[in-house]
Amino acid sequence: MTATVNSVISPEAKNVLSQFAATGVQSCFHGRHINPQIMADLNGSNWHLKDYEARGGYQALRKILAQGEGVGMTPDQVIAEVKLGGLRGRGGAGFPTGLKWSFMPRQFPGQKYLVCNSDEGEPGTCKDRDIMHFNPHSVIEGMAIAGYAMGITVGYNYIHGEIFATYQRFEEALEEARAAGYISKEVGDKILGSNVSFQLHASHGFGAYICGEETALLESLEGKKGQPRFKPPFPASFGLYGKPTTINNTETFAAVPWLIRNGGQAYLESGKPNNGGTKIYSVSGDVEWPGNYEVPLGTPFAKLLELAGGVRGAAQGRTLKAVIPGGSSAPVLPAAIMMECTMDYDSIAKAGSMLGSGAVIVMDDTRCMVESLKRLSYFYMHESCGQCTPCREGTGWLWRMVDRIHNGKGRATDLDLLNSVADNIQGRTICALGDAAAMPVRAMIKHFRHEFEAMIPKATAQSAERLTT
Ligand SMILES: Cc1cc2nc3c(=O)[nH]c(=O)nc-3n(C[C@H](O)[C@H](O)[C@H](O)COP(=O)(O)O)c2cc1C
Ligand code: SF4
Repeated sequence: MTATVNSVISPEAKNVLSQFAATGVQSCFHGRHINPQIMADLNGSNWHLKDYEARGGYQALRKILAQGEGVGMTPDQVIAEVKLGGLRGRGGAGFPTGLKWSFMPRQFPGQKYLVCNSDEGEPGTCKDRDIMHFNPHSVIEGMAIAGYAMGITVGYNYIHGEIFATYQRFEEALEEARAAGYISKEVGDKILGSNVSFQLHASHGFGAYICGEETALLESLEGKKGQPRFKPPFPASFGLYGKPTTINNTETFAAVPWLIRNGGQAYLESGKPNNGGTKIYSVSGDVEWPGNYEVPLGTPFAKLLELAGGVRGAAQGRTLKAVIPGGSSAPVLPAAIMMECTMDYDSIAKAGSMLGSGAVIVMDDTRCMVESLKRLSYFYMHESCGQCTPCREGTGWLWRMVDRIHNGKGRATDLDLLNSVADNIQGRTICALGDAAAMPVRAMIKHFRHEFEAMIPKATAQSAERLTT
């Protein structure tokens, strides 16, 4: 597929995109990043190979594959460098990338696979699509480096089904990379004069949130219904088509070229200990300038909020009430706690939430937490794949209970019941969607119980109502 993106974007959409570029709103061309590594110097049109090379692109791949005395890097050296850099997976769990790469059984006789998770369905998250649309070669180079490090010769990028123009652009970028010899054209083609071959393909996903869960993604990639597999076995031993497979998020791969080009130590120092590098935060909700902001891990939340223009309507008296710091699965945190946090995996975990995918959802003082939870619970009920009973039934119970509280029909025991249902989902399911549905419920009740109680009619009124109906 080599059709140009321009041919599929309508004039109206182009106009909207150019407005984003001009104002910086809801995108990444605003110049309000701090020391960006992935989004540096992007302007919306400089995504081609020649532009990427001009920004230093593919130097990291050349560096590791260089032939001769004292040059080049062995696969072990590449993995050691990634470990040193403290790169943690950007897909949600923050798992150390170098460690994950070291799990790949490199000597396995037969095909091994590398998969990029570009499903990006977590509500609030919109960074991977910008990376692929405006800097696709960073992902391709990162995957080629990862393939070399783990002895993998075939990779797939599974791209969310609803961003077709981005899928097409990624295909175009792949064609450019193949023509320039950065990835193999055919099976066994060697790249950059080395002994190494690496084929990379894009795959168009089906647009279901659950297909972002790594084993559901593998099922979907195999052409089956996207439902999570029971683990163990983990993908490192039984992955795509039953072969050893490593899966990383788009942003994780896009971070690798900078890390290898500048070295693990520099990458680590560009973030904070145990949290190397920069992170792209998708800031949405009640801020002046929603958009993607790339800043060093460890940046104070207050600074990130300031970059996004602060709380919308602050001049009219609006104040910060709460923040969901890592996508809809992450427990909500009240403003006072958030304002003390730095934006990194350890600080947000210590505060009782998760950095997750880095989707920062900002809520002002007018937001009703019961209504917000109702919306979140509906999402998880809708997206449950239905394989396990606690998730299939429990997500529906959660939504129905929050819905009745919101409709003024809650019962005095509902908050305890909600917590109990959440307890009976969390940790008892095949995949982490169950946890993702349960955690927001418990956090909302913990921090904003008074709002829920205020919507529940008093017990006496309830019994009177029951007697008369
Ligand atoms: C319900 C669910 C949805 C997920 N969606 C995504 C997603 O859209 N993108 C992603 O990279 N990871 C997603 N994950 C996490 C992946 O399973 C996996 O951990 C991740 O792709 C690993 O990449 P990383 O190590 O680079 O973070 C999801 C997990 C769950 C449980
Ligand atoms: S937890 Fe939910 S989404 Fe995950 S496998 Fe079970 S039913 Fe499916």
